[in-house]
Amino acid sequence: MITDVASKIVRADAIEILDASPDRVGSPCAWARPGGCGGCDFQHVERSAQLVLKAQVVRDALARHAGLPGIDVQVEALDDDGSGLHWRTRVRWTVNSDGRPGLLAYRTHDVVPVDECLLASPGIVQLGIPLTRRPGVTEVSTIEGDEGRVSVVLDGRLTSGKQRTDQRVRGRDWRVDVASFWQVHPRAADTLVSAVLEAGRPAPGEHWWDLYSGVGLFSAFLAEEVGVTGVVHAVESGPSAVRDARRSLHDLGQVTLHHDNALRWLRAADERPDGVVLDPPRAGAGRDVVQAIAGAGPRVVVYVACDPVALARDVALFASAGYRLAGLRAFDTFPMTHHVETVAALVPITLAHPIS
Ligand SMILES: C[S@@+](CC[C@H](N)C(=O)[O-])C[C@H]1O[C@@H](n2cnc3c(N)ncnc32)[C@H](O)[C@@H]1O
Repeated sequence: MITDVASKIVRADAIEILDASPDRVGSPCAWARPGGCGGCDFQHVERSAQLVLKAQVVRDALARHAGLPGIDVQVEALDDDGSGLHWRTRVRWTVNSDGRPGLLAYRTHDVVPVDECLLASPGIVQLGIPLTRRPGVTEVSTIEGDEGRVSVVLDGRLTSGKQRTDQRVRGRDWRVDVASFWQVHPRAADTLVSAVLEAGRPAPGEHWWDLYSGVGLFSAFLAEEVGVTGVVHAVESGPSAVRDARRSLHDLGQVTLHHDNALRWLRAADERPDGVVLDPPRAGAGRDVVQAIAGAGPRVVVYVACDPVALARDVALFASAGYRLAGLRAFDTFPMTHHVETVAALVPITLAHPIS
């Protein structure tokens, strides 16, 4: 049944399966169906086939938007229980006009009054959020830290749990404000840090920029690699994230935190970095940011992206600015959905064999 007609794409719901793909499975969640909750659009796909489909999404995006056909992409599963369920440590519930918290239908603002969410972490499930009416409230956010306690925020106001949840990555501790960004899958932060370090190979004494740095996840480990003779500039516009970074990275004198807009900071920056990490929001970095980074002439740019199309568009911009894609890894940080996280390495086009 056709649900949406846009200029170049038609969307439809499968309302009857006449000839099922061998990869089709029953959705574990009763709400994952046409007209139901829009959160999990891959629940009807066998888990390993989900990875194949996501790889195809990344390949298509690079072919269409970056003019790079045939890139070999494998989507790597995270080191979790493999079920694809109960990994979401942050869930935002939208409250309908009856005060009932639910989840949104696919590409709409319609609230589906689910009675549970199979992706939510066990601590969040235990709270029974969708079963508790919240008249007068618009949004309920639930955030679980590594210690297993859940903070509940109603329309931006903390009502239970802690203002800052505890997060631990590779032996370092963060206290992350409920308003600050943190990866949703509990294995994602560790996985992405490894991929960023592998792609960029920061070396002692080097200067690195960490743009869109959040609470300083990548900055901390870049700092460990460049050591006390190196420098890391972390640039983040969210005030709570900068505060969290200040607390968590105080032992790393080689890190300077900048509470600023990435583009504004780039325009004022006057050093040549050895490497740049950027991890922008879904929409990507865009032309001005890409040109400013390329203009600074780093030996490598490590681009972390949660939207393959935005990544591909920016890869095309980097190509116009003299940088080429030299490596790409993709991770299944959002099981049961079409979403995928990628870590790309870009190097100056003139470098023949920059990354082995
Ligand atoms: C995807 S998160 C990445 C955070 C961090 N790299 C991490 O992995 O935890 C993007 C971050 O960019 C920040 N941000 C959004 N727009 C920005 C801008 N124009 N300049 C600087 N930071 C921005 C957001 O507040 C958010 O913390």
